[in-house]
Amino acid sequence: MANKGANAVVLFVFMFFTLVLSESDHGEELELLLSFKSSIIHDPSGFLLNWDPSAATFCQWRGVGCNNMSHVETLDVSAKNLYGILVSSSVFRLPFVKTVNLSSNRFSGEIPRDIFSSTSSIRFLNMSNNNFTGKIPSGFIPDLEVLDLSNNMFSGKIPEEIGLFSGFKFLDLGGNVLSGKIPISITNVTALEYLTLASNQLVGQIPHEISKMMNLKWIYLGYNNLSGEIPKEIGGLTSLYHLDLVYNNFTGEIPSSIGNLRDLKYLFLYQNKLTGTVPNSIFGLEKLVSLDLSDNSLSGEIPELIIQLQNLEILHLFGNRFSGKIPNALTSLPHLQVLQLWSNRFSGGIPRSLGRRNNLTVLDLSTNNLTGRIPDGVCSSGRLLKLILFKNKLEGDIPMNLSTCASLQRVRLQNNHLSCELSSVFTKLPSVYFLDVSNNNLYGDIGDQIWDMPSLEMLSLSGNRFSGKLPHSLITPKLEFLDLSGNEFSGTIPPRFGTLPELIQLSLSENKLTGEIPDALSSCKKLVYLDLSHNQLIGQIPPFLTDMPVLGHLDLSENELSGEVPAKLGKTESLVQVNISHNHLTGALPSTGAFLVINESAVIGNDLCGGGLPPCKKLKNRAWWVLIACSLSSLLFLAVASFGFLFINGRNDLKLKRIENEDGSIWELQFFDSMASKSVTIHDITLSAKDEAISFKGKSWVSNDFQFIVSSIPSRFWSELTGIDKLQHPNIVKLIGKCRSEKSAYLLYEYVEGKLLSEILRNLSWERRRKIVIGIAKALRFLHSYCSPSVLVGDMSPERIIVDAKDEPRLQFILPCTGNKRFFSSPYIAPEAREIKEMNEKADIYGFGLVMIELLTGKAPSYSELGTTVEWARYCYSDCHLDTWVDPIIKNHASIDNHNQIVAAMNLALHCTAADHTARPCAADVTKTLQSVFRTSYGLPGLTFPSHV
Ligand SMILES: *[C@@H]1O[C@H](CO)[C@@H](O)[C@H](O)[C@H]1NC(C)=O
Ligand SMILES: *[C@@H]1O[C@H](CO)[C@@H](O)[C@H](O)[C@H]1NC(C)=O
Ligand SMILES: *[C@@H]1O[C@H](CO)[C@@H](O)[C@H](O)[C@H]1NC(C)=O
Ligand SMILES: *[C@@H]1O[C@H](CO)[C@@H](O)[C@H](O)[C@H]1NC(C)=O
Ligand SMILES: *[C@@H]1O[C@H](CO)[C@@H](O)[C@H](O)[C@H]1NC(C)=O
Repeated sequence: MANKGANAVVLFVFMFFTLVLSESDHGEELELLLSFKSSIIHDPSGFLLNWDPSAATFCQWRGVGCNNMSHVETLDVSAKNLYGILVSSSVFRLPFVKTVNLSSNRFSGEIPRDIFSSTSSIRFLNMSNNNFTGKIPSGFIPDLEVLDLSNNMFSGKIPEEIGLFSGFKFLDLGGNVLSGKIPISITNVTALEYLTLASNQLVGQIPHEISKMMNLKWIYLGYNNLSGEIPKEIGGLTSLYHLDLVYNNFTGEIPSSIGNLRDLKYLFLYQNKLTGTVPNSIFGLEKLVSLDLSDNSLSGEIPELIIQLQNLEILHLFGNRFSGKIPNALTSLPHLQVLQLWSNRFSGGIPRSLGRRNNLTVLDLSTNNLTGRIPDGVCSSGRLLKLILFKNKLEGDIPMNLSTCASLQRVRLQNNHLSCELSSVFTKLPSVYFLDVSNNNLYGDIGDQIWDMPSLEMLSLSGNRFSGKLPHSLITPKLEFLDLSGNEFSGTIPPRFGTLPELIQLSLSENKLTGEIPDALSSCKKLVYLDLSHNQLIGQIPPFLTDMPVLGHLDLSENELSGEVPAKLGKTESLVQVNISHNHLTGALPSTGAFLVINESAVIGNDLCGGGLPPCKKLKNRAWWVLIACSLSSLLFLAVASFGFLFINGRNDLKLKRIENEDGSIWELQFFDSMASKSVTIHDITLSAKDEAISFKGKSWVSNDFQFIVSSIPSRFWSELTGIDKLQHPNIVKLIGKCRSEKSAYLLYEYVEGKLLSEILRNLSWERRRKIVIGIAKALRFLHSYCSPSVLVGDMSPERIIVDAKDEPRLQFILPCTGNKRFFSSPYIAPEAREIKEMNEKADIYGFGLVMIELLTGKAPSYSELGTTVEWARYCYSDCHLDTWVDPIIKNHASIDNHNQIVAAMNLALHCTAADHTARPCAADVTKTLQSVFRTSYGLPGLTFPSHV
């Protein structure tokens, strides 16, 4: 009995204590939850509305999960659009909590320093996809298995203490701005299975000690700046099935030990600096599904051993120096879907039966040295989307059975030696949107062939030997680019071309066309580029051309046109480039618009004179453009092409003055801003000009509370500065004055509070990048279209763009003129401008395109790889998934709508960086396009571009 009674007492006491304990625990948990709630600043969806302290139990609160003792076990508020700052470590201290999930919200600010505490019971912590900043705190949680801090703005180094988290199975720190090296201590976390440090700014090598992490299944270290060789010890991680080291600076050879990773399914080493041959052991990894070694400097041949990769679906070896034959073994890989071997040195024929026993969707062997014929089984899978074989030495015909390949979307066979007639079935492919067979030896009369291609956007047949009438049955309502130039077409231009509502570019040059230019073309309201040169066209320049809303480039040269040049053509605002040379035109040349600064060569061979130019006097040559280009490098692109500018100057304090400085020197000084004229003295100007840090780094000088920046210019440009004060635009740093003495000349600019785009670019969201792109485009439009003559930017680079506190970009200067050389060696200068050391609008557009590519991809053009950023972007844009080119920072934060905008923006950027400068749009069109892309959620349907190489 006594025993029983004692038991009962013990039981009672136990229950009592449990009750008291849990009461007080519940009180503490309630406090901690409420403290968390108080850190939420904004809860737009009202998710936390039922977090009511008077409720019977918090276990009913949304997002709170309790265990069977009514203690909080999980807190999951993911993707609830919560804005907040975690001021205390409250929820991390919940005594029984195992799971905390705050992911995909709008938390910002630093996280509490003490969240990693050895007394914490958390096992699963997900704070990904927020906007947390600051360092990752040190300390550790012994039981933590899963830590996901990805896609935030964490900076600083990865703390050494990471090595103490011995329980880690999953660690994702990707998509932050972490710097420094990968701490060796991390290799102590031997239980780790999943490791992602991708998309940071990590440097240094992969620690050799990585071989200790025997449980690793997944390694993703891409998009950092890691260097050195890939450690051979990686071959000891035999559980690995996914190894991704892309976009780093790894050098040396691929270690042959990778061949020991028998379970490897995904091996991604693209965009590094790897050299040597691919070790044969790699071709024994039988489970490989995707092998991507593209964009390295790998060489040697691909052995027939590759036949062992029977599970391979994707093989990317492009952008290397591989040589020899394409292995026949590839024809026996039954799952092979994507084969991209472009930009290598492969030679010999394409394996005859390629495609017959594969499952091909994408075949790209372009830019190699391949000979022989196009195999006729490439579309046997019935799934082929892209057939890209341009820039080889392929000959013979286009296989007949491609004509029935209904899946085909993109066909690029240009720059080969193909020679055949174009099958009439080939002109009825339902899904093809891009068809380029230019620069081959194709022939035949295709005038009566019916082109029934509802998806077609781009068609180039140029540089072949097609003859007869121009094709007139084009049932291609989406056609934007039509290039039939360089053939032997004769007859007249079919009025039916006027029924192509989307046409942007029409090139019929270098044929034998006769007759007049049909008025029907006036219906092509989107036409930007019209080239009818080198034909035998007669009649007048049709007046409708002056009413084309976006026509920017018009080439009518080398025809038999007669009559006068319509005066209104000089008022066509969009027109940037005109060539009417070598016709029989007479009378006066318009003196405005595109004709104002027209090159002599674009009008010679006629009987023209007058206009704004001295009557029938020779036109000025373009030497002054070079001067302007140079002065621009120091003038913040604001140099004004002398003539044509009115100088109206009303206010007295803004008049040109002559003053003596304290040192006795005489200065001419003019302000364009009355505040400046009241505050800034010549003494301050000369003082600040002496301080290099000011003119170089864009630091300001303060004169009686007025902040300004001084830039020195060569005195000889003084005379070009008339009217420069009129260049005022919200996206251009304002010029506030100019001055000169016998020895020097300076321009004065307002000081703009902000950061250089180059400094902040990598951390900007898509929304902010969008705003910047639009702002720069507007500035460019202003300088090119609304100034007469237009003003050039010169060196358009993120170093010259200040982003102010409201995220408005402002074009600004940095470098004083140090001669042409420096200016023209900037990687943002268009190749043709670099070559001839002369700028024009289209070169500016190129620079703008590069800045856009940088904003989209996070990749800056580099000196050593001039042009390659553009080529890479162009290729990737057209033939890879968005993920492969877009800056991971914007990708991770962008919605689907934004993805469409990003794609459309990239499209435009590639347009702007077209190798052929005449194919680049003008600034007004760029702005228009951007505005419509950013207004609609899905962007443009698919502005394509003429060529990518
Ligand atoms: C992210 O945080 C930074 C710095 O705290 C802030 O400037 C920015 O506006 C935040 N962005 C978003 C999308 O919340
Ligand atoms: C790894 O752990 C061992 C044993 O706990 C310790 O002695 C060593 O210092 C750790 N190494 C690193 C690099 O942290
Ligand atoms: C890449 O590595 C090479 C050779 O180690 C080095 O010269 C270069 O500066 C590195 N590039 C970057 C961007 O770190
Ligand atoms: C071929 O590819 C398709 C997807 O494009 C896939 O569904 C199918 O299973 C593949 N067939 C083979 C034999 O791999
Ligand atoms: C292309 O192949 C031919 C032989 O087929 C060879 O003579 C030539 O050197 C190769 N060119 C290049 C650039 O590899």
